Amino acid sequence: MKFFVDTADINEIRDLAATGLLDGVTTNPSLVAKTGKEFVPLIREICAAVPGPVSAEVGATEFEPMLEEGRYLATLAPNIAVKVPLTPAGLKVCKALGGGGTMVNVTLCFSSAQAILAAKAGAAFVSPFVGRLDDIGEDGMGLIAEICQVYMAQGMETEVLVASVRHPRHVVEGARLGAQVATIPPGILRQLFQHPLTDKGLAQFVADWRKSGQKILPAGVEPLKALA
Ligand code: E4P
Repeated sequence: MKFFVDTADINEIRDLAATGLLDGVTTNPSLVAKTGKEFVPLIREICAAVPGPVSAEVGATEFEPMLEEGRYLATLAPNIAVKVPLTPAGLKVCKALGGGGTMVNVTLCFSSAQAILAAKAGAAFVSPFVGRLDDIGEDGMGLIAEICQVYMAQGMETEVLVASVRHPRHVVEGARLGAQVATIPPGILRQLFQHPLTDKGLAQFVADWRKSGQKILPAGVEPLKALA
């Protein structure tokens, strides 16, 4: 499963990219607004910080201005995925941009019927918002299961991008169900590394190692030189 980070905060993105485990970034107008930065230069900066797809969302809702914005966004960097809403205009833009080789992420997907339309429009990614469905008492992961099943049955190549992630189980369940991507807020991405038994076990190993007085590197060899 690919991991995208769901943020427009360039410091968070750089920090997480340094782990070598980050495959891309998703932004949206609300996340960009939080940074207080100008959109286009910010997107250029993010695209330079990660090699994988960076979703940049259009602001227009009508077909022609949306297409114009999408075409412009696609010129910003080779790793741009233009993000469009799951509306008739958005899907029309998706088809037009996708036909020209631009990656498109169709966002705000809340049903399998919508996901089928996104795939028919040639989307590279469809983003079902699992957390927002859970928030209203619906079953976000049930939607991921159904979309994965339908895409598999139909041989549809659009990647299922689990969005609106609220906790690590959303990521694990998405992976189990066959979703290709999860976009994860930075705090939850860091949570994936953690387990109290890892901390406890490591503390014990460190204490026992110190007590044993053993060393791995030969005397006089500095750590980085030992690797050379
Ligand atoms: C997806 O690309 C969206 O940016 C995002 O996952 C929205 O999540 P939210 O429901 O936490 O705002």
